[in-house]
Amino acid sequence: MSVLVTGGAGYIGSHVVRLLHQRSEPVLVVDGLSNGLRDRLGASQFLQLDLAAPNSKQALTDAIREHGVTSVIHLAAQKQVGVSVERPEFYYEQNIGGMSSLLSAMRDTGVDRLVFSSSAATYGIPDAEAVTEDSECHPINPYGETKLIGEWMGANAARSWGLRVANLRYFNVAGTGWPELADTAVMNLVPIVFSALKAGKSPIVFGDDYATPDGSCVRDYVHVHDLADAHLSALDYLERDERKHSTFNVGTGQGFSVFQVLAEIKRVTKIDFDIDIQPRRAGDPPYLCADVSRIKEELGWQSSRGLNEIIESAWSAIK
Ligand SMILES: NC(=O)c1ccc[n+]([C@@H]2O[C@H](COP(=O)([O-])OP(=O)(O)OC[C@H]3O[C@@H](n4cnc5c(N)ncnc54)[C@H](O)[C@@H]3O)[C@@H](O)[C@H]2O)c1
Repeated sequence: MSVLVTGGAGYIGSHVVRLLHQRSEPVLVVDGLSNGLRDRLGASQFLQLDLAAPNSKQALTDAIREHGVTSVIHLAAQKQVGVSVERPEFYYEQNIGGMSSLLSAMRDTGVDRLVFSSSAATYGIPDAEAVTEDSECHPINPYGETKLIGEWMGANAARSWGLRVANLRYFNVAGTGWPELADTAVMNLVPIVFSALKAGKSPIVFGDDYATPDGSCVRDYVHVHDLADAHLSALDYLERDERKHSTFNVGTGQGFSVFQVLAEIKRVTKIDFDIDIQPRRAGDPPYLCADVSRIKEELGWQSSRGLNEIIESAWSAIK
């Protein structure tokens, strides 16, 4: 009995793998290493494989049988919104092609439990301050579309052959549980600000005239350690719950504006920096925050770490 973690060499996946090890669960990591780091895995069983490669279904089927896999956490995906707009074909090939190979291999081997990494990007530009899982999904870029289509693929497999799937729609993930697993990509607010500070530059804020309390965008920041823990709760839920297809927001339920995050960064780093205000970017909703009632009620999960721990942990990993 082991858990297959795709994308386990990535930022979030390596935290999930670490927590599975702490629970003494045997783990097989499959990762193409397009963006992952082998060093994050320690002694985990590892197969280097691009899930979207032509031979991947057979390679996955063999690996699932060889390692006695009984459940899967599927995090492997390309995740850069901007690149997905420039190269949509590549994003469909990677994220949907990868999901398709994985589902085929699971079906052929009778592995019927899946936790799927989805995203708040499925919602697009919501018209509410906090979205529930029943809010309408209108993704506004190919990346968000691949996540929503991934959810549909799981739902169809649930109807067709009895897959049991829990989609986790992550909100803004940040922080680190262990310094060596820190986010090395400079794509989200906290790493972007740290990178600017290290280069002696002023962090940029896109838009200070939104209809929010201080004019900057408000987001729900979830600590990666808490998020990783939600995957274990979802695995346990799939063992005990009869429903075949469920979707959960994973956030804190509390929003912080960009200016509030910058103020916390100033406090933690003790660097008194200026802020460079630029015009709004296309596609940034004023609010993107989670209603977390469902995950609390059904999975018994809730975040326990706040913005301060997010910033402290991320800063201490790089300074
Ligand atoms: N980081 C966030 O803020 C965030 C928010 C919402 C959803 N997500 C989702 O969470 C998951 C993990 O994100 P992350 O931040 O850890 O990203 P990451 O890039 O650090 O990790 C993704 C891992 O998947 C691997 N991978 C990508 N495509 C693959 C393929 N076709 N075959 C095999 N391996 C492949 C990469 O090498 C990498 O190790 C992704 O599915 C992402 O879309 C992330």
